[in-house]
Amino acid sequence: MPAIELAPAFDLTYVRAQFPSLAQTVNGHPAAFLDGPGGTQVPQRVIDAISNYLRRNNANTGGAYATSRHTDAMIAEARAAMADFLHCAADEVVFGPNMTTLTFAMSRAIGRDLKPGDEILVTRLDHDANVSPWLTMAEDRGVTVRWAEIHDEDCTLDMADLSSKINPNTKLVAAGYASNAVGTINPVKEIIRLAHAAGALAYIDAVHYGPHGLIDAAALDCDFLVCSTYKFFGPHMGVLFGKREHLQGLRPYKVRPNTNAIPNCWEWGTLNHEGIAGIAACVDYIADIGRGVTNGASNRTTEMRVPHPSRVSKGGNDAAGTSGLKTERRAAIESAYAAIHEHERTLLERILTGLKKIPGLKIYGITDPARFHERCATLAVRIENHSPLELSTKLGERGFFTWDGNYYALNLTEHLDVEKSGGFLRIGLVHYNTTDEVDRLLAALREIVGV
Ligand SMILES: Cc1ncc(COP(=O)(O)O)c(C=O)c1O
Repeated sequence: MPAIELAPAFDLTYVRAQFPSLAQTVNGHPAAFLDGPGGTQVPQRVIDAISNYLRRNNANTGGAYATSRHTDAMIAEARAAMADFLHCAADEVVFGPNMTTLTFAMSRAIGRDLKPGDEILVTRLDHDANVSPWLTMAEDRGVTVRWAEIHDEDCTLDMADLSSKINPNTKLVAAGYASNAVGTINPVKEIIRLAHAAGALAYIDAVHYGPHGLIDAAALDCDFLVCSTYKFFGPHMGVLFGKREHLQGLRPYKVRPNTNAIPNCWEWGTLNHEGIAGIAACVDYIADIGRGVTNGASNRTTEMRVPHPSRVSKGGNDAAGTSGLKTERRAAIESAYAAIHEHERTLLERILTGLKKIPGLKIYGITDPARFHERCATLAVRIENHSPLELSTKLGERGFFTWDGNYYALNLTEHLDVEKSGGFLRIGLVHYNTTDEVDRLLAALREIVGV
């Protein structure tokens, strides 16, 4: 069994006990799930919520009988939970199969109002799910595409370049919150400000940021923000936040019986109800980390983040962005991310220190600890004379689950000229990972490369 340690005000023993899959072994080695960026593990309560829904309430929506009514209520509760997670109103939350599908759908609706001469901006750092939907829409509508480039040396967005490519013709800026390949956290608030100053919409891909950092749609003032619950300990689903004015103003492609009421007019066909049942459970799992942290009262940073009781409401989500009131769950989610951030930072420092000592290993992205607030604990590396596939295969045999390739951050791997030679080896740490796993991974890498 790996040693389990406690980060300050973060009960890793409690956390790991929530996730049954973490106890697995591979070839006699404890499994180390370093594949969070591809999808995280789920706590028992998410598994229970999904199977309980199927066992007791499996029905379509809008029927005049018990299980259908329970399904309607369950979906409303999941929407309220996501509204707390994103800090928006419940009717600004749209459920869909995944981020990619939601983005293709929204790009089509936005594209309906665009014409030749209009411009959109995408970035070289983004996952292709926040690039290709816009490229294909632009092709259909005769819209011009501009690309924001990166600083190759640290894989950060070149903000001067990005800013220079936004002009009065720009109608939309699509940018990622964090890179799923190299871990860079982008200055999205500034990107949104630049987009709005030009009268453009800001569409933020928060899929990779979701497990690592607090999302605050109200504070960001973004027009759209998309995430995937399977990246933050929930079911395989996608969620889109859209400002109410846009969800009401844009014209979705939809079937006629689907009314014009938001958010349902953006949700087509029958949704994945069992998946949605898991969403409220996963948000409550995260909130419980915050509740534990708050009750532990041993972390000053966290205590300071708990809002004054007069600003905490007991339920309902219409408050976000309007009266400024916060639900108890939202306050707990904020506390949770403060604790998660602290633990991940410990892991990040430890792994980067160890990786830097491996001869022939190159880290892509920010490596300066003074700039760790600009990255999350997602590491893309290459090691001389070893392909990423060879490394991930050998690590996999030893119980370490990592990824090789481009993870759909195709524009980045092409730009850095690593695409043809197998991309990167990606090591993705999330809050359930331990320093022991980091140490064992470093030892395994040294053994594999023979140093
Ligand atoms: C940054 C980022 N954006 C978008 C996506 C696509 O998400 P989905 O699988 O929900 O379509 C991913 C998936 O890996 C991702 O990491």
